[in-house]
Amino acid sequence: MSIEPQTWHHGLVAQWWAEFNDDGPEIEYFRGWVEGGGGPALDIACGAGRLLVPYRAAGLDVDGCDVSADMVGACRRRLAAAGLEANVWTQAMHELDPPRAYRTVFVCGGFGLGSARARDEEALRRFHRALAPGGTLVFDVELPYSYTRHWPYWLPGGRDALPEAWPEPERRLTADGGELSVATRVVDLDPLNQIVTMELRAERHDEGRLVAEELHRLTITLYFRDELVAMLRASGFDDIDVFRGNTLEPPSRDDRFLVFAARRR
Ligand SMILES: C[S@@+](CC[C@H](N)C(=O)[O-])C[C@H]1O[C@@H](n2cnc3c(N)ncnc32)[C@H](O)[C@@H]1O
Repeated sequence: MSIEPQTWHHGLVAQWWAEFNDDGPEIEYFRGWVEGGGGPALDIACGAGRLLVPYRAAGLDVDGCDVSADMVGACRRRLAAAGLEANVWTQAMHELDPPRAYRTVFVCGGFGLGSARARDEEALRRFHRALAPGGTLVFDVELPYSYTRHWPYWLPGGRDALPEAWPEPERRLTADGGELSVATRVVDLDPLNQIVTMELRAERHDEGRLVAEELHRLTITLYFRDELVAMLRASGFDDIDVFRGNTLEPPSRDDRFLVFAARRR
């Protein structure tokens, strides 16, 4: 396995995120944590700034970082277009080394991506170090059983169907008159290490002519609730809460998407 985080948020995929991902309930949800934290916040895996840009527009003191230089570039362009500034930089979360301490560190849709367990454990230790005493880490995760389509791949016989055939791509028109298309498929699921490997094929057409095509891989490490709680404790966090995704309510067994909030003493 490569040492570098394996993510697909580069090139055309970064363009896709920047053009087509600018809303969602996470924006208001994480804003509540940032405002409640009452001090500087760090948006880890900030991507193209879906959360960071509106927070800066609201006057919140938020920095951001992401492993993908293309996503960070898209974030900077969005900030500049809105006449805003923020300290954003390119860094993998397991190498996090921020310039200041934060009251809130948050990760929306990024924990476990491009990773492996040892790097995620290191990331949690670095999140802890990045917090001021009394500060809070907040992040969301999809549970391993979230995608029912993947269930057969947990069994040896089920994995005979991998890699999946490419599905029909999703196509969107870009602001500059081109067309982007993306398709994703599962290529492997390792149940012992709880890692799913996906591929994404992206294409750009201008006036019907193919002008760019890319193939990317993404590994996702899957975590169950209690193993994440144990990992947070082992990383030095106290006072750990688990919520149903984008709420402050306790999760039920029917939930597949959770939020973890953990405080540094
Ligand atoms: C699903 S996007 C979410 C972006 C943003 N948080 C949002 O909600 O719009 C995931 C982001 O995680 C970043 N990422 C993936 N693996 C990472 C890692 N190991 N360290 C830091 N960022 C990572 C990707 O580059 C991408 O920008």
